[in-house]
Amino acid sequence: MNPVVALHDPHAPLDRRGRPMHDLRISVMDRCNFRCPYCMPKETFGEGYRFLGSAERLSFPEITRLAGLFVGLGVRKLRLTGGEPLLRAGLAELVGDLAALPKVEDVALTTNGVLLARHAEELRAQGLGRVTVSLDSLDPEVFRTMSGGYGAPAEILDGIQAAIAAGLAPVKVNCVVQRGVNDHTALALVEHFRGSGVIVRFIEYMDVGTRNHWDASRVVPSRELHAAVHARWPLVPLAAGYHGEVAERYAFADGRGEVGFISSVSQPFCGACTRARLSSEGVLYTCLFATHGLDLRTPLRAGADDATLEALIRSAWLGRNDRYSEARAALHAAGSERKIEMYYIGG
Ligand code: GTP
Ligand code: 5AD
Ligand code: SF4
Ligand code: SF4
Repeated sequence: MNPVVALHDPHAPLDRRGRPMHDLRISVMDRCNFRCPYCMPKETFGEGYRFLGSAERLSFPEITRLAGLFVGLGVRKLRLTGGEPLLRAGLAELVGDLAALPKVEDVALTTNGVLLARHAEELRAQGLGRVTVSLDSLDPEVFRTMSGGYGAPAEILDGIQAAIAAGLAPVKVNCVVQRGVNDHTALALVEHFRGSGVIVRFIEYMDVGTRNHWDASRVVPSRELHAAVHARWPLVPLAAGYHGEVAERYAFADGRGEVGFISSVSQPFCGACTRARLSSEGVLYTCLFATHGLDLRTPLRAGADDATLEALIRSAWLGRNDRYSEARAALHAAGSERKIEMYYIGG
């Protein structure tokens, strides 16, 4: 029997592919202080772009209430994301409320790191377990190309140091790799963090959203990067840290830490995907590539009780059949790349 199913709480729902709900990724802020072209390209997300107003975003008590319901349905891991989550005023307060929820085993944050030095200590004090920092290159020019012209590697490194000092461990660094843009600086990133306890993870550039001009030729498959790292610092495979971990982990053979590869394009991991996503306005998405979600804010604000909200979430999960990345891989192999763009993203 599948060990996850064997351990599974019988009251928690399994989706149509037998997957439990284990992680909830909560976006607390749709704005960002960067404009990474692969995520929020400037030409779309310029000055005139209408982001959510603060009343449209879920309040901290609303987020905490919904998170508690997700925990009741099997979630054990919470990750705060954005946009840039540290742009949300008073975020540490929310962390405190979430960390106090019974049964929650892990509260983490994904950030671009600019505001991390300022907030690391209070986040830790409120119960944040760890942080993941996006850092695409240590080369200042390349960094700025990847961030849309904002920030500098030195600021992000300060944030990482502050996180280490505060005990937010392990700190992970996410690096999205784009061929011809930052791939030539990948080894320098590994070299910098080897032996520091920080875990660098390379992410294949994905076709998220509709606006990032995704082009398969810009994807650097993990096996290529793995070969480059391995040639310089021999690697040995490590077992996954937990069921459904998205990164493939490798240890440096000389004992100086580990590195990870997130291969959602070349080796999709939908089969073990236990992630639910809650947007900052309270819409539940069951896949990173979903085109529509379930609005929880409307019933929440109309006074729905916990049982009603829980039933809505349960039924969304029971009906879940998402496997976008696997479908994309199959369709790419069949040579119908354009169709999937139209069907899943443009349509
Ligand atoms: P850990 O809990 O430390 O293992 O982190 P994580 O990998 O779950 O979270 P993180 O935010 O660091 O995720 C890294 C990146 O992997 C994300 O930002 C996405 O780019 C990608 N990713 C994470 N989850 C999914 C997923 O469910 N599907 C796809 N296609 N990509 C994902
Ligand atoms: N492809 C891969 N990763 C992406 N991220 C954002 N957009 C993309 C994309 N198109 C990553 C960020 C960050 C995490 C939240 O998602 O770099 O590490
Ligand atoms: Fe997107 Fe993160 Fe870049 Fe902001 S820092 S634009 S959220 S990838
Ligand atoms: Fe999960 Fe969707 Fe990503 Fe597949 S594509 S791993 S189902 S979020």
